[in-house]
Amino acid sequence: MANSLLISLLQIYLLFLSFSTCALGNLPKFHVVDLHALTSKDVCSPPKYMERFKSVKPTLKMVDRHGPCSTLHPAEKLSLEQILSNDQSRVDSIHHRVSAISGKGTTSGPLSPSQIIAQSGNSYSAGNYIVHVGIGTPSKTSTLIFDTGSYVTWVQCEPCKQCYMQQEPIFDPSQSSTFMNVSCNSTSCNDVSGNNCLGSSCLYSVQYGDGSYTSGYYVEDTLTLTPDVIQKFRFGCGQNNKGLFGEVAGLLGLSPSSESFVSQTSDKYQSVFSYCLPPVSSSTGYLNFGRNSDISKTNRTPITKQTNFGPYYYITMTGLSVADKTLPISPTVFSNAGTIIDSGTVITRLPPDAYQPLKSAFREHMTQYKMVPGDSLLDTCYDFTGVDNVTIPTVGVQFLNNVSLDLDPNGILIGTTSQRCLAFAGNSDPNGLGIFGNVQQRTFNVVYDIPKGEIGFSPDAC
Ligand SMILES: *[C@@H]1O[C@H](CO)[C@@H](O)[C@H](O)[C@H]1NC(C)=O
Ligand SMILES: *[C@@H]1O[C@H](CO)[C@@H](O)[C@H](O)[C@H]1NC(C)=O
Ligand SMILES: *[C@@H]1O[C@H](CO)[C@@H](O)[C@H](O)[C@H]1NC(C)=O
Ligand SMILES: *[C@@H]1O[C@H](CO)[C@@H](O)[C@H](O)[C@H]1NC(C)=O
Repeated sequence: MANSLLISLLQIYLLFLSFSTCALGNLPKFHVVDLHALTSKDVCSPPKYMERFKSVKPTLKMVDRHGPCSTLHPAEKLSLEQILSNDQSRVDSIHHRVSAISGKGTTSGPLSPSQIIAQSGNSYSAGNYIVHVGIGTPSKTSTLIFDTGSYVTWVQCEPCKQCYMQQEPIFDPSQSSTFMNVSCNSTSCNDVSGNNCLGSSCLYSVQYGDGSYTSGYYVEDTLTLTPDVIQKFRFGCGQNNKGLFGEVAGLLGLSPSSESFVSQTSDKYQSVFSYCLPPVSSSTGYLNFGRNSDISKTNRTPITKQTNFGPYYYITMTGLSVADKTLPISPTVFSNAGTIIDSGTVITRLPPDAYQPLKSAFREHMTQYKMVPGDSLLDTCYDFTGVDNVTIPTVGVQFLNNVSLDLDPNGILIGTTSQRCLAFAGNSDPNGLGIFGNVQQRTFNVVYDIPKGEIGFSPDAC
């Protein structure tokens, strides 16, 4: 009698454990989520993390440029289909670039500097997150796309030969008392364009995978990240710009390469930055620079390869789990392909032999819901019409050094309230680079500690 009572208490306890979403130690097996909590609201909710960063400066607010927290008002709101299609062109261009550099693809051999420039880009239409900085003296507020897969920072610049529509006035160098051209014979000019010059002024040009581009003079001016002021920051003054950049003024390049923001500010911020991408587009994330108390709490995985293989942060994915059960995937499936972490890619891309078991295991736990056809990218989709709370298996992603991420429910499913899909996709080529995308990074504090060669993660940060 006492025994069976004990057993049922134990069963209740186990049931509780498996349904709890905040168990420590072992991963919980399921999330029970209110679908409305997964859906962006119409109005922006205030940031949750301000108290934590009272003394951490600078902390920039980071928001989804398509959502209600964005200060931009594009004429046309992008649909999920358009965002996913742009995402695929970004991924195609990363794959093209990396296979060209590593010699795995059709283009082999080392690239000339001009080829590197021509292939250095991606489709930034999918680079969803924006921050505000100040440029020039007096400082003018500029909204920039933040991108860990890009090194040249640039803004549209007067006198403009060809500029797309932007929300703020276009940056006018003649109005800034601290503006200077970067000299043609400098090492910075060599790094950014192989000393491509007009007279003594350095030129830059970046082409992106979807046909977008920016070009103009490579210049320096004061950059303000309130309250910090960075003198002589080098960036592109873009007089020819075209593409799906939305209404932003330009782009903030945070890749590990020389001339990126991270390299230029290494004295001030020790080449350390961290961010949190918000769970939904109606909430606010952050981007901050330098070492702070928050970054010590992270579980860290090594940055494995660096700049020789493109301006990307390489990490080593080692496994995947669904409902706390590790999937049978050989580690060579991940190591043959390699993995980068990218702030601008939306959907995580996996080698085909990793995606197949993930999708099968996920589907096995979702048989109570009605499956619906997906699109070309996402193939595991459900109709949740009439469902309030949905029970989904937890999804875990493992990286080298025992780093195991229990993804936020917003990092597992993407879509509208009534129809949602598993937010992962398989590459067609088993050797195609894996990409840990921004949906899966949501709510983690992600720390880039370049001197230590590590990337860290801690959950529930925003
Ligand atoms: C759905 O979830 C919410 C919040 O998690 C909870 O308050 C509510 O009772 C749940 N409803 C049902 C029908 O389980
Ligand atoms: C920068 O270089 C361009 C092209 O040579 C020139 O038109 C412009 O006046 C220069 N600006 C400054 C501040 O030197
Ligand atoms: C670049 O050229 C200028 C003027 O011609 C000269 O003063 C300067 O020392 C040169 N810088 C380098 C790094 O060679
Ligand atoms: C990783 O975790 C496993 C199981 O928790 C443990 O046995 C192993 O020693 C850990 N390895 C490292 C490098 O911490």
